[in-house]
Amino acid sequence: MDWGIKNRLSRIINQRNGKGVMLAVDHGYFLGPTERLEDPKKTIKPLLQYADSLMLTRGVLRTCVDSESNIPIVLRVSGGTSILGEDLSKETITTSIEEAIRLNASCLALSIFVGSKYEHQTLSNLSKLVNEGEKYGIPVLAVTAVGKEMARDARYLALSCRIAAELGAHVVKTYYCENFEKVVEGCPVPVIIAGGKKLPEKDALHLTFNAIKDGASGVDMGRNIWQSDHPIEMIQAVRSIVHDGLSVQESIESFFLKKNLQSNELETLNR
Ligand code: R5P
Repeated sequence: MDWGIKNRLSRIINQRNGKGVMLAVDHGYFLGPTERLEDPKKTIKPLLQYADSLMLTRGVLRTCVDSESNIPIVLRVSGGTSILGEDLSKETITTSIEEAIRLNASCLALSIFVGSKYEHQTLSNLSKLVNEGEKYGIPVLAVTAVGKEMARDARYLALSCRIAAELGAHVVKTYYCENFEKVVEGCPVPVIIAGGKKLPEKDALHLTFNAIKDGASGVDMGRNIWQSDHPIEMIQAVRSIVHDGLSVQESIESFFLKKNLQSNELETLNR
């Protein structure tokens, strides 16, 4: 692998332990002002110091992140659809490689929709992006998005992740599922997991713990962090599981119980 790609990747996935915590705030690219991400600047600022990298679009990067920040940027470069549109899988490449270089991106992120109507288009987008990234030493994160009618099971996710890696993605993001180790086994590049819809905090920490135990190289997590009533404690707890091998209970004790949360808040947490 090219030195530049390796160097940039090491900013996303720590080479010491092979793990990374990516904070995802790119949801607005098709969802608009998502709950608790209405003002991205406000959401991002207190969390940044606990993330290894930040995943977002160029628009939010330019307007909501201090240009003096040294957080490695995972730049979402696919889109062109909305929740109201014809088909979410009809994505195109929205941001040029020159723009990604100007923005000092450490990684490019693009969604693929295996099994969807526009499967071919999204896989072709990925191939083109990898070709561009390879030219300039910038790695590519393939986001395996799931179409409405697709099951999020190991068979389907393993298929998507493997195809992404075969087309040259340097990291793949997918969902945690039963038999997740099969997904990791079949994918020759690091696999990280999305958090998905907001869960009770304890469940999201279990998801993180199980994914790491089953071979994930980290998380690309959004809603389960910033939609929590305790986003800072949540990202710290996730981080402690990913990087320090804490159990779910240890992470809760370290980052929630020590904060003197009210008993009703703890109840939500322990649901
Ligand atoms: C989809 O909108 C994006 O790729 C998100 O970055 C990804 O799904 C991770 O965010 P969450 O943990 O909220 O699912």
